[in-house]
Amino acid sequence: MQEFSYAHRNTSSKDRWNTPQLTPELAAARESAFSREIPVAADDTLCFVLAQAAAIKPRRVLELGTAVGITSAALALACPHAHITTVEREQKFYDEAVQNFNSLGISPRVCAILGDAGEVISTLSGQFDMIFLDCAKVQYVKYLPRLKELLSFGGVLLADDVLLYGWASGEAEVPKKRKMLAQHIEEYLSAVTADGELVTAVVKVGDGMAVSVKKQL
Ligand SMILES: C[S@@+](CC[C@H](N)C(=O)[O-])C[C@H]1O[C@@H](n2cnc3c(N)ncnc32)[C@H](O)[C@@H]1O
Repeated sequence: MQEFSYAHRNTSSKDRWNTPQLTPELAAARESAFSREIPVAADDTLCFVLAQAAAIKPRRVLELGTAVGITSAALALACPHAHITTVEREQKFYDEAVQNFNSLGISPRVCAILGDAGEVISTLSGQFDMIFLDCAKVQYVKYLPRLKELLSFGGVLLADDVLLYGWASGEAEVPKKRKMLAQHIEEYLSAVTADGELVTAVVKVGDGMAVSVKKQL
């Protein structure tokens, strides 16, 4: 049985066709994060997120789960007109993310918030053209109603790791102690795929990504 750890995500990320185009400084910060087994988006995931951003050209991006800020920084550098709000609950990750944003010169366009994503989203105002949901998987379904309010029409909600370990797809048996997590992810996938206000595709990128676009009704 696969251990419930992020480590596998980081070691298997090298992919010939999915090599994110990053500045040398950001690539170095990312490699440093990988070497310390900090959970950072794998190559294919990051390429996918950046390709979505290139299509949407978001003005406002929300990321839940900053870790050390690699994806937020990649988005800020790839979308020079975008403002990124990113939320992280671990102090040491938040501190390193802020340091990364400073040294990459993107701090004026990145609002890093230290706190619990569930609490922070209730305080945010306005709407976002892109939301990258990449924090506690067990909370995805609970956050969904508020994230739909925060998403602009035509905006995209990307939920990462929804096919984690093949549990939700039925490819692997769910370990007993992970049944609750698997159930919450299934509830999230059922909710977004049945929602008439969203158009959703679940794609096999990284550990699975649900891509939900908010329709203009
Ligand atoms: C997979 S990592 C994020 C990686 C990052 N998005 C990237 O691509 O570089 C998930 C992060 O979410 C944070 N996290 C988990 N639950 C959270 C919550 N409820 N609120 C805020 N952050 C949370 C974890 O501390 C961890 O740093």
